[in-house]
Amino acid sequence: MKILLTGGTGYIGSHTAVELIERGYEIEILDNLFNSKITVLDDIEKITGVKPKFHKVDLLDVLAMEKVFEEGKFDLVIHFAGLKAVGESVEKPLKYYENNVGGTINLLKCMKKYGVNKIVFSSSATVYGDQGVAELTEDMQTGVGITNPYGETKHVIEEILKDVAEADQKFEATILRYFNPVGAHKSGLIGEDPNDIPNNLMPIIMKVSTGEIKELSVYGDDYDTPDGTGMRDYIHVVDLARGHVAAIEKMKPGVSIYNLGTGKATSVLEMVAAFEKASGGKKLTYKIVGRRAGDLPKIFANPTKAKKELEWETELTIEDAMDDTINYLKHYTEKK
Ligand code: NAD
Ligand code: UD1
Repeated sequence: MKILLTGGTGYIGSHTAVELIERGYEIEILDNLFNSKITVLDDIEKITGVKPKFHKVDLLDVLAMEKVFEEGKFDLVIHFAGLKAVGESVEKPLKYYENNVGGTINLLKCMKKYGVNKIVFSSSATVYGDQGVAELTEDMQTGVGITNPYGETKHVIEEILKDVAEADQKFEATILRYFNPVGAHKSGLIGEDPNDIPNNLMPIIMKVSTGEIKELSVYGDDYDTPDGTGMRDYIHVVDLARGHVAAIEKMKPGVSIYNLGTGKATSVLEMVAAFEKASGGKKLTYKIVGRRAGDLPKIFANPTKAKKELEWETELTIEDAMDDTINYLKHYTEKK
């Protein structure tokens, strides 16, 4: 099976590339390098022995994308490419709708033109909005109470995929709703570039540990959770990557939706403590500040459907994620 990874040099795409290559899949990567570096390809080669064919192409450049499809003869697309900075999406909504929704429409038209009818899409737990409960299952209604344009783009793309599947019986789409990806490949060669998204917890913890940010602001300690801080389902990025391998092996006509998460929620202070433990007891400076607008107290995946239908479940722990993050940070700071 030949697979095109859009956004394949990014954080989740690069880890998925490694897992796919290690299982013998032939892959090519398309990315405009807006939020990733070309050197990721060398790192993938160092890990797997294979350097994937790369196309520096933007999803908004239809002609360039068609050329990739014409030559590629792909069987399936895993669609990671997209902008993901929540705060920026509030300031620049059109940029987000154009890139994420417009880019996906271009991709789907291109797939149709070149007879590719299988797609795996990177969605997010954000599509659930506020359900009033912490444990989220795939059959819940989505799209209500999403607090930012980034999240809206994920919901809209999910709806587009459903409509396309309705119109074309041969179309196979798997929507993967990621919870909070953390960690890095155990080699330390690939991971999340902490310069990319300054608003998520892990990249901020990374920057506090390197001294680039003075302290972590913990957004609220008055939630109805055991230590009062917000709780999320943090999934090791390598487990997440393996979820994609499981998904492509079980594709079926129509739209299938899966949560990719651990089923467990961890608080901000527990994450801080786990990071400190992994760094040999070195303290991470933090202060408690007010709640962040749009934050929920606690959410986590119910991963039962993925376990049953994809025969996939997470294997790695928060401790693994912290060890791998610290190892990656060492490599990252050496490279700089
Ligand atoms: P990332 O920014 O590291 O990777 C995305 C890649 O897409 C980047 O390499 C970027 O250059 C590329 N890209 C963006 N727009 C493009 C365009 N128009 N044409 C070509 N390439 C383009 O992000 P990631 O964390 O690896 O996320 C991958 C996907 O998963 C995204 O769609 C993201 O929204 C989704 N997701 C991420 C998280 C998370 O917390 N990281 C959570 C849920 C969902
Ligand atoms: C955020 C986005 C969500 C997006 C996801 C992945 C918001 C409201 N939600 O989710 O739409 O899909 O990122 O990109 O922006 N925290 C701190 N201090 C910080 C940063 C985070 O205490 O400096 C806390 C948060 O309050 C939360 C937890 O850490 O409890 C995780 O935050 P984050 O990494 O931003 O992820 P989400 O809030 O789940």
